Amino acid sequence: MGLLKSLFSGKTSGNLPAFTDFSSIKTDIHSHLIPGLDDGVQTLEESLQMIRGFQSLGFQKLITTPHIMSDYFKNTPQIIQSGLMELRGALRHEGISMEIDAAAEYYVDEMFLKKLNDEPLLTIGEKTVLIEISYVNPPENLQQVLFEIHLLGYTPLLAHPERYPFWYGKFEEYRNLKDAGVMLQLNVNSLAGYYGAGARKTAERLIDEGLIDYIGSDLHGQRHLDVLSKVIKEKYLRKLMAGGVKNSLL
Ligand SMILES: [Fe+2]
Repeated sequence: MGLLKSLFSGKTSGNLPAFTDFSSIKTDIHSHLIPGLDDGVQTLEESLQMIRGFQSLGFQKLITTPHIMSDYFKNTPQIIQSGLMELRGALRHEGISMEIDAAAEYYVDEMFLKKLNDEPLLTIGEKTVLIEISYVNPPENLQQVLFEIHLLGYTPLLAHPERYPFWYGKFEEYRNLKDAGVMLQLNVNSLAGYYGAGARKTAERLIDEGLIDYIGSDLHGQRHLDVLSKVIKEKYLRKLMAGGVKNSLL
């Protein structure tokens, strides 16, 4: 019902359906909602407020992804799981019906290779590992990391590919990543220009070339929720949603 309602209510632009919310997407797979674990939400109240916001935008499930980054956010699967349990308890207590799971957003640094080999990673679904890289330079060992991720039976999913300026003039890099079995997750707010003109332009081209597998909110707080509630009107988001992303399969 959600999909049909979203597809056929409201006006259309060209041949694109006018989605009124994210109910056809169903699941958000990238956010920072466990209080105090990273640079995302800091209090339980804020977290509940954000989750109510997701609910009002039509999301039915959240897979929240705290940062794991050696230098700044020394989270472990145990810390994240215990934060998830507390958050689920608070949702029950408040009577908020939202399914919530946790994975992690792994920063590819020196320690990541070690973690990869030493412990089971927190995944999205059965085997998808959300990774991010430096905004300044691609990691020298990226190919090796991707190779090892695959070797261990995981599938890499690169967060916000449109936010890495060193690839803006080298679009073949994105195609090479896809050829190497890397899936790509677009930050939906990029389509509203939230991360700047370069990110927006790159996001649109990634959509035009059919390279995006998933969308994510990458929500850290109210500022992102505000943009998320408006971005649904953007033509490129409608194009992406009409073409199908894999979110609803999770
Ligand atoms: Fe993130």
